[in-house]
Amino acid sequence: MERPVIRVKDLYKIYTIGTNKVRALNGVDFSIHKGEFCCIVGTSGSGKSTLLNMMAGLEKPTKGEIIIAGEHIEKKSESQLVNFRQAHVGFIFQSYNLMQNLTAIENVAMPLTFQGVGKKEREARAVKMLKLVGLSKYMKHRPGQMSGGQQQRVGIARALVVNPEIVFADEPTGNLDSNTTMEVLHLIQKIVHEQQQTMIMVTHDNHLASYGDRIIHISDGKILKIEDKRAEREAAAAVASEEQAAEPVPEAETAPEPAKEAEPFTITVPEYDPAKSGVPAEMAGGPKKKKN
Ligand SMILES: Nc1ncnc2c1ncn2[C@@H]1O[C@H](COP(=O)(O)OP(=O)(O)OP(=O)(O)O)[C@@H](O)[C@H]1O
Ligand SMILES: [Mg+2]
Repeated sequence: MERPVIRVKDLYKIYTIGTNKVRALNGVDFSIHKGEFCCIVGTSGSGKSTLLNMMAGLEKPTKGEIIIAGEHIEKKSESQLVNFRQAHVGFIFQSYNLMQNLTAIENVAMPLTFQGVGKKEREARAVKMLKLVGLSKYMKHRPGQMSGGQQQRVGIARALVVNPEIVFADEPTGNLDSNTTMEVLHLIQKIVHEQQQTMIMVTHDNHLASYGDRIIHISDGKILKIEDKRAEREAAAAVASEEQAAEPVPEAETAPEPAKEAEPFTITVPEYDPAKSGVPAEMAGGPKKKKN
C-alpha cells in the first residue's frame, strides 16, 4: 500500500480554563491515504473541529505529531503554515466564507492571485471551475444574490481551483436542506475522486459519513473505530472474483444498461446566510500574510 498522505500520531489537545481541563483530543492515531474521501464523525463536542483545525495547522497540539505530505505540521511557524496551506490545502467552510462584494468568478479566482497567476488565466480557471460545479448562469452573481447551495458551490470551486492535494471541510453541508446537502456531497465526492485529491470532511451525521472511503468515529476526543470501506470493497471483490473463477458464468444475453446521466442541479433554497467565522484571512480569500 502507498504511503499515507496524512499521518496523525498520539495527538492530544488539552484546553485549560481556570482549574478545568478539557481533553478535546485524548490520544488520537490514524492514517489517511491519497485519493481517499475520509469522514470524521461524532456528536457535538466530540473533538471533530479541534482535530481538523490541528491538521490544517490552525491550532497547535498539546502533544503528538501530524505529518502531511511528509512534513511535520506541529513544528511549523505561522508563516510556514500560511505557505504550506497555500501550496497543499483547500478549505470548504460551513458558512461559505465568501467575499460579499465580489462576484462568483472573483471569489473563485482569489486564491490564484496569491499564487501569482495572471488575470486572464485566473478568470479562465475560475470560469471552468464554476461550470464544473454547475454555476454557469451565476458567474457574475455576488453571494447575496445566490442561494445557500449555490454559495456553497462557489465555496467548493474556490477550494478546488488551485488543485490542492488535500481538501478539509468542516460540516460543509451544515447550512443546507437535505436535498441540497446530497447534491453538494455528491459533487464534492465526484470532483475529489476525479482529481485524485484527498478529502477530509467533518460531520455529526452518520448517514453523510457513510459516503466516506474511510470513516473515523470520534467520541470524547478518542477514536471509537475506523471503517475502511475501500479495503472492505476490495476484499469483497476478491471473494467475488474467486467465486467467479471457480464457476464460469454464461455470457450475458442482454446489453448492459447505458450509464445514467447526472441530474441537473436544482437549487431550492433561496436563503442567504451571511458568512461569519474567525478563519485566517488567506483561507477566506483575504490578503495574504507577508512571507518571511
Ligand atoms: N478554544 C477552546 N477552548 C476551550 N475549550 C475548547 C475550545 N475549543 C473547543 N473546546 C472544547 O473541546 C471539545 C471539542 O470541541 P470541538 O469544537 O472540537 O467539537 P466538535 O466535535 O467540532 O463539536 P460540534 O459538532 O459542536 O462542532 C469541547 O468540549 C469544546 O468545549
Ligand atoms: Mg465543530
